[in-house]
Amino acid sequence: MAMYEIRHAYDSLQVAEEKPGELSLEARLRAINRPLLDWYRNHARILPWREDPKPYHVWISEIMLQQTRVEAVKPYFERFLEALPDISALAAVEDDRLMKLWEGLGYYNRARNLKKAAQVIVHEYEGRMPSEYQELLKLPGIGSYTAGAIASIAFGKPVPAVDGNVLRVISRVTASRRDILKASTKKWMEDRLRETMPQSEASDFNQGLIEIGAIVCVPNGQPKCGQCPLASVCLSRQQELWQEIPVKTPPKKRRIEEKTVCILECGHQVALKKREDEGLLASLYELPNAEGFLSEEELGEAFGIMPELMVQIEPLPQAKHIFSHVEWHMKGYRIRLSGGIPESYISAGKEELKSVYALPGAFGRYTKLIK
Ligand code: ADE
Repeated sequence: MAMYEIRHAYDSLQVAEEKPGELSLEARLRAINRPLLDWYRNHARILPWREDPKPYHVWISEIMLQQTRVEAVKPYFERFLEALPDISALAAVEDDRLMKLWEGLGYYNRARNLKKAAQVIVHEYEGRMPSEYQELLKLPGIGSYTAGAIASIAFGKPVPAVDGNVLRVISRVTASRRDILKASTKKWMEDRLRETMPQSEASDFNQGLIEIGAIVCVPNGQPKCGQCPLASVCLSRQQELWQEIPVKTPPKKRRIEEKTVCILECGHQVALKKREDEGLLASLYELPNAEGFLSEEELGEAFGIMPELMVQIEPLPQAKHIFSHVEWHMKGYRIRLSGGIPESYISAGKEELKSVYALPGAFGRYTKLIK
């Protein structure tokens, strides 16, 4: 029997003999190991990135899964790997193609960092993903969660991978009232789990915790404690605390920006602009837009078009897009032009819109209306 197994057996015994409230924090954490692993091996969802957990696959999936739901990620993951099957392909991809592959996933810096990190791996690690947690942490876009996920899932290293799911599950199991939005809470949890997690089954342990957080101890609404393998050790279940834990301090209010967005079209061509290289949605393409809610009379000046060239102006529905720190509230117009798309814009055909230019989801309400 391996050392951790003896420890598990002992831990389970402790749980059986003591009342749940009497366990030390460390004993409570050790007590989750066995039931968690057993449950995960029977309940893990079949997901594309779990079929062949190569470092590259784990890396891409974990970056995509940040702030994005599993169901939404699946088709992107498959398409991305088909287009860029390995690290050297990613390191060499053109920026516009990369943005097109990421189009609609949001948080585009994630994709830019993937490419930067791939270039570092090619130049400094002979094209092979480093396996050590501390080396992974040095790569652009890789923080403690992703480094832990890659090191444990792809290389079997005994390091924790604490994301929002794990923060919620462990806070509930231990009835911790630390604020899970604070970096210090994440560090505290990583330090505790590094000690208590099963050292030779880190991959299933970490994925099991994430899985429980995703499908049992859910982020919104009542946790499904009746299905939870950790219910017998969970202090929040015992004390009915699921509505209070995890503790999250409310985030700051988002700034609201009002905009007017235009579909400027002439025949089958539409006008686009490329966004600045820095800041929100950097280097992506956008529909022409201007600050504020503009009236029809103000459009010519705002978009640099002589009024006599505007053949028809059609108001479009309002739309809203929420980023982490800003909300765009948008008013829209379709403007039919004569004499072609003005030279200050990129003139794009329908096919190019589909295959070449990455337009962020923020304009989705209007790009859908391009005929
Ligand atoms: N969310 C974050 N990482 C995940 C993973 N590896 N599997 C399922 N959901 C996840």
